[in-house]
Amino acid sequence: NNHLVIMAGGVGSRFWPMSTAEKPKQFIDVLGVGKSLLQLTAERFNGICEPHNIWVVTNRNYVDIVRQQLPDIPTGNILCEPCRRNTAPCIAYVSWKIKSQDPKANIVVSPSDHIVTNTTEFTRIMSRCMEFTNETDSIVTLGIKPSRPETGYGYIQADLSSSSLRNKEIFRVDSFREKPDIETAQQYIQKNDYFWNAGIFVWNVNTIINAFRVYQPTMAKIFESLIPIYGTGKEQEEIDRLFPECENISVDYAIMEKAEEIFVCPADFGWSDLGTWGSLQTQTHKDLYGNSCIGNDISLFETHNCMIHTTQEKKVVIQGLDGYIVAENNNTLLICKLSEEQRIKQFSGQDK
Ligand code: GDD
Ligand code: MG
Repeated sequence: NNHLVIMAGGVGSRFWPMSTAEKPKQFIDVLGVGKSLLQLTAERFNGICEPHNIWVVTNRNYVDIVRQQLPDIPTGNILCEPCRRNTAPCIAYVSWKIKSQDPKANIVVSPSDHIVTNTTEFTRIMSRCMEFTNETDSIVTLGIKPSRPETGYGYIQADLSSSSLRNKEIFRVDSFREKPDIETAQQYIQKNDYFWNAGIFVWNVNTIINAFRVYQPTMAKIFESLIPIYGTGKEQEEIDRLFPECENISVDYAIMEKAEEIFVCPADFGWSDLGTWGSLQTQTHKDLYGNSCIGNDISLFETHNCMIHTTQEKKVVIQGLDGYIVAENNNTLLICKLSEEQRIKQFSGQDK
């Protein structure tokens, strides 16, 4: 059976003040379409995976928000982490949990804060990848053609001569490199065999569990030891006790950079990681002067290339700005040059 795991425990600190530790961006209607990024993510998998096979792994502070936003998935499928340990422990926990219910599960793991504009192509690619992992023990990543030397992504070098007869769209990976420095990223984007890691992974439950056993044996032992109590009344108590012992590490460093047999499916379905205000600006409608406005009552005069976002019923009037972010949420107002947006974490005090 096909299962979907949505990772929804991040904080989205570069999107402050819209995204806050109380309510991170995945739970917000960032695009102004009436649905949160989490809801859009679940919806994207309609037809690929049944609601009772959707799992959401999140921090304990967000369990109630997930329940409200995704009422169709069973509450037992919302897994609660007692503390932040990044994506490797999140994936380990849910993998052993799924295995205890469906020993042959085929799984796609997805972030909760991305957008995809071509959902038909997305569904086609996902089906291809899931057929592949149903038949083979492989880790499949999705590769996006890079358009800039982004240092916030993982890079996948594909062996483009390696497609098998069985699946002409899936290639062996020569190397996986998480978040390279700018010089390295600049070299990568000049070659045609490098892709951005979309952060979406496909595998069957046994493949990923074996990968944890080989590359993260300490973490594997923790979740292995919990096998007898998955689904019992003691599960949360034991997770609360043992989860904090896991190393704080992303799956990209913990598994992807180390694994020998991984594959990539190059994909072009209008993918965007809504990581920063600038990336949101590129994804939303712009007026004639290059401004993107999300909000109810925004008036601009002699203003260009700005990203303006309000979440409240508040009248906003701006004159004479060029290249700025103006964002307000609750009792916080941010006015910041778009070119300085990487410093927002620092401005918000969240990096302390
Ligand atoms: N449950 C849970 N627990 N989820 C988490 C945690 C956690 O501790 N930390 C992050 N997440 C969720 C986030 O909410 C997000 O949906 C997803 O996991 C990915 O985490 P990010 O923190 O956004 O990762 P990243 O953007 O730095 O890097 C990843 O995504 C890039 C593409 O967007 C990597 O996979 C890169 O290789 C990739 O290029
Ligand atoms: Mg991200």
